[in-house]
Amino acid sequence: MKFFIDTANVEEIREAAEVGLLDGVTTNPSLLAKEPGDPTAILREITKLVAGPVSAEVTALDHAGMVEQGRELRSIADNIVVKVPMTLEGLKAIRLLSREDVPTNCTLIFNATQALMAAKAGATFASPFIGRLDDISADGMGLIAQCCTIYRNYGLATEVLVASIRLPQQVTQAALLGAQVATIPPKVLRQLADHPLTDAGLQKFLADWEQVKNRA
Ligand code: E4P
Repeated sequence: MKFFIDTANVEEIREAAEVGLLDGVTTNPSLLAKEPGDPTAILREITKLVAGPVSAEVTALDHAGMVEQGRELRSIADNIVVKVPMTLEGLKAIRLLSREDVPTNCTLIFNATQALMAAKAGATFASPFIGRLDDISADGMGLIAQCCTIYRNYGLATEVLVASIRLPQQVTQAALLGAQVATIPPKVLRQLADHPLTDAGLQKFLADWEQVKNRA
């Protein structure tokens, strides 16, 4: 499973990249709005920190505008992936961009049919938002299972990019289902390495070592 980080904060991305397990980044207009400075400059900096795909989202609502913005975003760096919302206009834009070999991430997916349509349009990634579904008492992880099954059933090349993750165990569940990518908020990414028994075990090893380390 590929680990992407879901933030536009350069320091958080740098910190995660240093661990060496970071495969990509997802941003969106809300994440970029939280950061001070010019969004294009921020995206450019992010693309230099991570070799893998960096999703940057269009804001136009019509397909021609999306394609134009997509081309502009791609001019920032070769590892930019154009993020396009799941609308009929978005599907048209994904189809056109894919013909130009521009990688795309179809975002704001909330049901399996939308995911199927994103794949048929030629999206590189499809992003089902599981946390936002759970927030309204729907079954976010159930949607991931459906997307993985449908893509397998038809041999579709689009990768399931699990988005809107809130908890570490969601990454485990998504990996068990075979989702290719999880985009993980910085806090959850840090939590992935934690286990109370790891901490307790380490403390005990160090305490025991203190007793014997000076033995001749
Ligand atoms: C994905 O690409 C989105 O940026 C993100 O996962 C949305 O998550 P949220 O529901 O926590 O805003």
